Amino acid sequence: MERRPPHASRSSAPGKIILFGEHAVVYGRPALAVPVTQVQATATVSATSRTGIWIEAPEIGLASELSRLAPFHPLAAVINRVFSALLLPVSPPIFFENGGGSGGATIHVSSTIPVASGLGSGAAVSVAIIRALSAFLGQPLPDECVSALAYEVEKLHHGTPSGIDNTVITYAKPVYFVKFPSPPGSGDGGEVQTFRVGVPFTIVIGDTGLSAPTKESVSDVHELWEADQPRWEKVFDEVGDIVQKARCAIETGNIPTLGPLMDKNHKLLQEMTVSCPELDRLVEAAHKSGALGAKLSGGGHGGNMIALVENEKASAVAEALMDAGSKRPIITQIR
Ligand code: PMV
Repeated sequence: MERRPPHASRSSAPGKIILFGEHAVVYGRPALAVPVTQVQATATVSATSRTGIWIEAPEIGLASELSRLAPFHPLAAVINRVFSALLLPVSPPIFFENGGGSGGATIHVSSTIPVASGLGSGAAVSVAIIRALSAFLGQPLPDECVSALAYEVEKLHHGTPSGIDNTVITYAKPVYFVKFPSPPGSGDGGEVQTFRVGVPFTIVIGDTGLSAPTKESVSDVHELWEADQPRWEKVFDEVGDIVQKARCAIETGNIPTLGPLMDKNHKLLQEMTVSCPELDRLVEAAHKSGALGAKLSGGGHGGNMIALVENEKASAVAEALMDAGSKRPIITQIR
């Protein structure tokens, strides 16, 4: 089969951070997440005279032809899914436009998003590859397909993801996300609404540097839920209530009320046992240095926390987070 793609195609996808609602979102409550554009994953697909699909990801020491990777390798999984979504075979030579001959493709992947820390690095790499590769193959996929394919890959690696990461990263906009009703933890995609940020606000993201697999914290919460469903359903309802209030505050520009909502959400996450001393230390340091509120963000047990700050206090809070053990904090404007 003859395909005539361009000689190169490049796509970048942002990181993301959950503002409110992690974990409860797995049980059908809403969550709010926003893109973090300071960090990016980038995929560049270019024509090569070698046959085959060559993957280069120097940051993880990977340089390999696709067929030599295990099919469940995260990058192999996403690449194979793009070919299959486009109903194209992976193996034959690709014929390039303008008489450029035939050969294969090199997919170069790089990312400035810290891995396994709640910034959505896996989903961002998937989205960047899906967009760059489908465009290279001459059939750029629409956002719904990009998000759905990235979600397939998320499921392979995170067990029962809610779908929030692939969604906010694909659309690169603040999203209000509700997982579709299905048995808790089964992960079947969700309803997405983008929402308006009435007045831009600033958050500082602190990183414990502890790599924390989301799958484990999700499974810990699932065990708690199984042991006492009425108790945890009530806790998740409280989180859902916080999320609704937070969305309303963000839309109307009532930013100061977000601080106490963050603090309340953090307490409930502590109750779910997904915080840890390192996260609590950063949350406390944020408060002491003038943040309006702070909470862990994402799966917990390590990874990231966020602090809501007045713009002029952002640097002081970032420094306090560093003193309390954070890796280089990110200051980001939500707009
Ligand atoms: O660690 P992150 O940022 O991928 O977030 C996980 C969020 C959870 O609600 C804990 C799980 C999920 O799939 O939504």
